[in-house]
Amino acid sequence: MDIDFQNLPHSGSAPQWTADCVILPLYEDQSPGAVAPLLLQQAPWIEQSPARRDFRGKKGELTLIYAGSDLTDFSRNLALPRLLLCGLGKEDKGVLSDFRNTVAGAVKFCRDKAFVRLGLPVEALDALAQKGLADREALLRETVVSALLGLFRPGLYRSGAADEDDPPADPQVLSFFLAGKDVPEQARLAVNLGLSEAGGVLVARRLGNTPANLLSPADLAGEARRIAEKYAFSCRVFTDQEIVDMGMGALHAVGRGSKNGPRLALLEHCPQGKEAGDPLIIVGKGITFDSGGISLKPSANMHEMKSDMGGAAAVLGLFTAIGEAPDRADLPRLIGIIAAAENMPGGNAGRPGDIVTTYSGKTVEILNTDAEGRLVLCDALAYAQKEWKPRALIDLATLTGACVIALGDHGIGLFSTDEELRAAILEAAGQSGDLVWPMPLWDEYDKNLKSELADMLNIGPREGGAIHAALFLRRFIEKDVRWAHLDIAGPGYVVKTAPLHPVPGSTGTGVRLLCRLLRDTAFCSPDCVRH
Ligand code: BES
Ligand code: ZN
Ligand code: ZN
Repeated sequence: MDIDFQNLPHSGSAPQWTADCVILPLYEDQSPGAVAPLLLQQAPWIEQSPARRDFRGKKGELTLIYAGSDLTDFSRNLALPRLLLCGLGKEDKGVLSDFRNTVAGAVKFCRDKAFVRLGLPVEALDALAQKGLADREALLRETVVSALLGLFRPGLYRSGAADEDDPPADPQVLSFFLAGKDVPEQARLAVNLGLSEAGGVLVARRLGNTPANLLSPADLAGEARRIAEKYAFSCRVFTDQEIVDMGMGALHAVGRGSKNGPRLALLEHCPQGKEAGDPLIIVGKGITFDSGGISLKPSANMHEMKSDMGGAAAVLGLFTAIGEAPDRADLPRLIGIIAAAENMPGGNAGRPGDIVTTYSGKTVEILNTDAEGRLVLCDALAYAQKEWKPRALIDLATLTGACVIALGDHGIGLFSTDEELRAAILEAAGQSGDLVWPMPLWDEYDKNLKSELADMLNIGPREGGAIHAALFLRRFIEKDVRWAHLDIAGPGYVVKTAPLHPVPGSTGTGVRLLCRLLRDTAFCSPDCVRH
């Protein structure tokens, strides 16, 4: 779906906004005339429509109303023949996530009706901004993101005709209706930002949904290369032999059971003039399939483990979003690291009891080969700190089932060694709509990782499993490094659908959170230099 603007110059020969259907979000007790006077001038039938009186503005309510008093009237090729009233619920309870869901639901409704051209008056967004929901630019951006994510459908691998249940074609265009001759630069920027962020999320979803036979660790690294070429980022990929030669014994131990060997991929966005600045480094867990290895998982729902590269997908989604972004030169220097492997049993697989030497030099006794995420991450984290001095080091990983038990299937567990970084991530989450909750890194639990033979075990007790995984990672973080770990096992893959992820599968979690962190928090502002 394309996004554009339609202007309405103040004077001249009555130009008109046109759309098959206008989307109008309203709180309870708000009237169309009050929030969109220019729209009403052009379509005075809105307030006269009998169906309009039944609209109460309840959250999620959608009421479609039509112009004209009879069929001939309606068929007269009207510029604005229909209006979709969309309820936002009570004004005092207005939150951005309801707005997003409303837009996503409305656009999907329009697709089901096969409307081709949609419109949305910016004056209606201004009315919401006035009530304090968010500023105009944020609402424009969120409208674009919500519309595109709401229309998401996975690429299908069917050979023949489409299934009858498949939704009809997407609307072709969403036009923002503006008064005045020009489109304000800020508005254009906001829309482009929305397009870039949604594009990033969609890339992450596509990768997460791709089955493991079609997405090996080498393929995932290839995606990093493709993105780097497309958007002129630097990129480097280490092969399995190089991983062994560099001494990444943990990443190697996870990948060795599969014919599809592991990869470590690096991506860098370095705006001109920022070469000397310390980078922000984002590390993603990229297990293209997690069978559990020799500690094999039960077979029920094992297919979901094709999305165990959700962290890596978020890194690639973020770089896509940055590549598409209008403000990429203003962003800080950023490095993405993807630790990719396929966790498989086999004649060459690592075994429970194996002891490996990690890139840091520390040794690990692997008691459970299904706790592989922390193994690939520990080598990537150690590498990041050896090569650079990160201004902040953040990893994203579908790391533990225990985190899903603790926080449910929407919650992201946040573990951090740094108060300010934690606060910045929580602030970003408030804006992106992600449900992020701070989790503890209790020293008392760290002794549970003690091994009799090596420096540490790769698992602790089942109880507090997400904390033990995070404490394992913390053992690889050097003093004074600002580090945060995001356990996205819950929201990374969903079975239940929601307006912003309308089909089950990978969600692209993390992309928007990181976008907000990069842009809206003081922590990552370009001129923030901290050591
Ligand atoms: N990839 C899984 C974690 C996971 C579970 C992600 C459910 C998404 C949904 C991870 O590698 C794993 O298997 N973790 C084990 C750790 C245990 C062996 C200590 C787990 O959570 O059971
Ligand atoms: Zn596992
Ligand atoms: Zn895993």
